[in-house]
Amino acid sequence: MANARVLSGIRSSGALHLGNYLGALRNWRALQHQYECYYFIADWHALTTDYADTDTLKASMFDNMAGFLAVGLDPEQCTLFIQSRVPEHAELHLLLSMITPVPWLERVPSYKEQQQQIKDKDLTTYGFLGYPVLQTADIIMYKGNYVPVGIDQVPHIELARDIVRRFNHLYAPVFPEPQPLLTETPKVPGLDGRKMSKSYNNAIYLTDTPEAIEGKIKVMMTDPARKRRRDPGNPEVCPVFDFHKVFSPPETIALVDRECRTAGIGCIDCKQMMSTHLLQEMRPILDKRCELEARPQEVLAVFEDGSKNAQHTAEATMAEVRQAMKLV
Ligand code: TRP
Ligand code: SF4
Repeated sequence: MANARVLSGIRSSGALHLGNYLGALRNWRALQHQYECYYFIADWHALTTDYADTDTLKASMFDNMAGFLAVGLDPEQCTLFIQSRVPEHAELHLLLSMITPVPWLERVPSYKEQQQQIKDKDLTTYGFLGYPVLQTADIIMYKGNYVPVGIDQVPHIELARDIVRRFNHLYAPVFPEPQPLLTETPKVPGLDGRKMSKSYNNAIYLTDTPEAIEGKIKVMMTDPARKRRRDPGNPEVCPVFDFHKVFSPPETIALVDRECRTAGIGCIDCKQMMSTHLLQEMRPILDKRCELEARPQEVLAVFEDGSKNAQHTAEATMAEVRQAMKLV
């Protein structure tokens, strides 16, 4: 489908890190040349878990906007916007909530999982239960055909399809059924081998300087069995090797894979090589991100503009929705 629409969003729940880049943004950047793309910052979705503490929201928003531009999302190629700047999302969310059975929402795996995992917040709220309904509104507002997401989000897209079918059946065939676009995205762990996350303090941020990243890599975890230089290591259990697999050329990966096991190379040299390859890809992004920090007005203007364009499309969709539901 040449003119198919792609839509995706990111929750503005903190500063963008390498995990967000590899897992989403890098892929979005490639897609902007192939499809009509809409990318947005889901600030209302951030509230579903962080409603009690909104002090950091503004800083996250700016970070995410500047990050989108730094990685090379191009406002000439795609529509970049902010969810709350297009209040039509709230209207569609409300209308969809009328036709969405509560058991459909309770069955979404992330619902109970997150409630169990996040113990320091009360997630028994109406808004948290409705998270995937809001996500459905986000997607279908633009008649999105494909939604690039991670595997964890697939149940949300399936629910969106169920809601679309119900809407189209009850009223009129307004919406296409969205499909997840699952692209193989490379994964790196955090610096300590756990999942990269701001709450573990183990992340590489798009706001880090190249020197700061080199410093973080120098002290990052390696195979714990390799205590001394002469101890052989196992790259399979070493997070440094995971980074090599993403950023280094095949010869380097093969070399590390071989020489680590025989103690032919030391961890310091191994990390040095990895740093170099990582920065080869990341340095232009870090530089751009740093530049944008000094030009906040330009960043805001891009998203103001994009939000206006998005709203234009959203308004057209809502006119169809109100018509279909006889709310006219
Ligand atoms: N739920 C998504 C996430 O946590 C963020 C999101 C909100 C989204 N609305 C969306 C993703 C619409 C794709 C489409 O990553
Ligand atoms: Fe990890 Fe490289 Fe050290 Fe092996 S040599 S343990 S892959 S850092």
